[in-house]
Amino acid sequence: MRSLIDIQELSVEEINDLVKCAEDIIANPAKYSEMCKGKKLATLFFEPSTRTRLSFEAAMYELGGNVLSVSSAASSSAAKGESVADTAKTISSYADIIAMRHPKEGAPLVAAMNATIPVINAGDGGHNHPTQTLADILTIHCEKGRLDNMTIGLCGDLKFGRTVHSLISAMSRYENVKFYLISPDELKVPSYVKKDILKKNNVEYVQTSDLEGSISELDVLYMTRVQKERFFNEEDYLRLKDSYILTPDKLKTAKPDLSILHPLPRVNEIAVAIDDDPRACYFKQVYYGKIMRMSLILKLLEVVK
Ligand code: NCD
Repeated sequence: MRSLIDIQELSVEEINDLVKCAEDIIANPAKYSEMCKGKKLATLFFEPSTRTRLSFEAAMYELGGNVLSVSSAASSSAAKGESVADTAKTISSYADIIAMRHPKEGAPLVAAMNATIPVINAGDGGHNHPTQTLADILTIHCEKGRLDNMTIGLCGDLKFGRTVHSLISAMSRYENVKFYLISPDELKVPSYVKKDILKKNNVEYVQTSDLEGSISELDVLYMTRVQKERFFNEEDYLRLKDSYILTPDKLKTAKPDLSILHPLPRVNEIAVAIDDDPRACYFKQVYYGKIMRMSLILKLLEVVK
């Protein structure tokens, strides 16, 4: 029985295999439509979500499986004080696999240690979000035809943005990937990401607050939302929330084949006018997220080897 809590638990070969399986699902959806018949996925979401929860559920339905869902902490026994460990033990009697989102860093790991079925981390606080990274990787692969030899700019809230931490962690393992880490001073990438991932693996990176000055260097631009719910005071959030707004004007010096990604939800970081630009990939990324979750469920349930 295997879980996915941190993207580092997957080797580069395994990530590449998941991408290959995802691309086969796109090419031959009918082949996969009954592969999880009789299996159940439980989505336990103790934090708000539209895409991640519904994409897990859509993924399981498209594999012919079924879904049990807790969509808020308030509607579950967590509100009565039940521990994550007890919840995980309980759900193990009902389902074959769990996808869990929780505001506390490490909660899905605790669930995995107590469940007797695989647990997927669907976002834990400001820490990690490995399945968003799988969606991002499939998007980059489909757009660029490769995962190596590229410069990726990450822009916005790099401190609390869990998708950013997981994406850096995964892409650092591919050859000749460089990063531009673009954020206000207060929202820089946490020091553990720099020390344990970037420096440890000798990955080249530039830390800057200047989006316009960096944009011409980028093959991928990953915009992010300032994570309001992780701030300790509203004043700081209000001061920082509109630090970066990508407008058509700012794209003037960008490469013609730049890929613009965003994990969504978008608040104000990308002008709606950019949605029709062929470089905008964020709604395709939503579709790829569902496909990659299908691929992951198949792998963790050992339906495909
Ligand atoms: C992200 C998340 O929840 O971390 N959303 C998502 O899963 N697509 C990004 C965000 O909320 O800003």
